[in-house]
Amino acid sequence: MTGDLSPIDTAKFVAAKRAVDFVEDGMRVGLGTGSTAAWMVRCLGELVREDGLRVTGVPTSTRTAELARKVGIEVVSLDEAKWLDLTIDGADEVDPDLNLIKGGGGALLQEKIVATASDQMIVITDATKKVEALGAFPLPVEVVPFGWQTTKALVEETLSGLDVLGESATLRLNGQAPFVTDEGNYIVDLHLHRIANARQLSLVLNQIPGVVENGLFIDVCDIVIVGHGDGRVEVDDINSGTHEEDRIEFVETDNLFTNISE
Ligand code: 5RP
Repeated sequence: MTGDLSPIDTAKFVAAKRAVDFVEDGMRVGLGTGSTAAWMVRCLGELVREDGLRVTGVPTSTRTAELARKVGIEVVSLDEAKWLDLTIDGADEVDPDLNLIKGGGGALLQEKIVATASDQMIVITDATKKVEALGAFPLPVEVVPFGWQTTKALVEETLSGLDVLGESATLRLNGQAPFVTDEGNYIVDLHLHRIANARQLSLVLNQIPGVVENGLFIDVCDIVIVGHGDGRVEVDDINSGTHEEDRIEFVETDNLFTNISE
């Protein structure tokens, strides 16, 4: 069934394919960023082109906007859409309460704004992202470039008073230069190893001058869809408390599977 796709790509693909089942005709949909979200954009584009599904997409990064246009999805800004029916995005970690770490791809700010402006957020992921407690994945914090070293020092000082296992912070680089987000900011990654109180940490970080936003998504995600390398998907809905399992059968068509990288 899965042909040339690696198990991890199969897992991401089947999660994405299951997620687009939630998209109804006429919906305004937030389009996430990252390799899993890119699968979703491709699947949604196929529904638009092949089935005539009408959707308006609000991308969370310039690279997602580019891909969405390429696959035939009408793209508008969040200000044009105003409010969204649904956002579908990937994540770096998902805990049992569906709280998330996001921002591995550097798009956390737009992702959080878009997801928060949506009636529902669906996270699509492979099983490696499910964790008992958040924090093994470095927590991205978006900071303004002005005085970033001072902001980083303040963040580290703040961490020493909180219940986290690690306290070091590193500026994210793109080669030798700082990584710059779509909003022109920098990202400081926090190596915390384990976060005991994610809600408190998120609030405290966002109080520090220079911090724009952090990658903790607390009480934002409604549904998580976990894909597996054998085509199975698990759908957990935090609101209804339901857990469903399914299997996605698919054929690798040229349209969807060429140039799978973002
Ligand atoms: C980008 C993100 C991504 O959703 C997250 O990094 C997961 O990416 P991938 O699907 O490539 O593993 O938060 O800012």
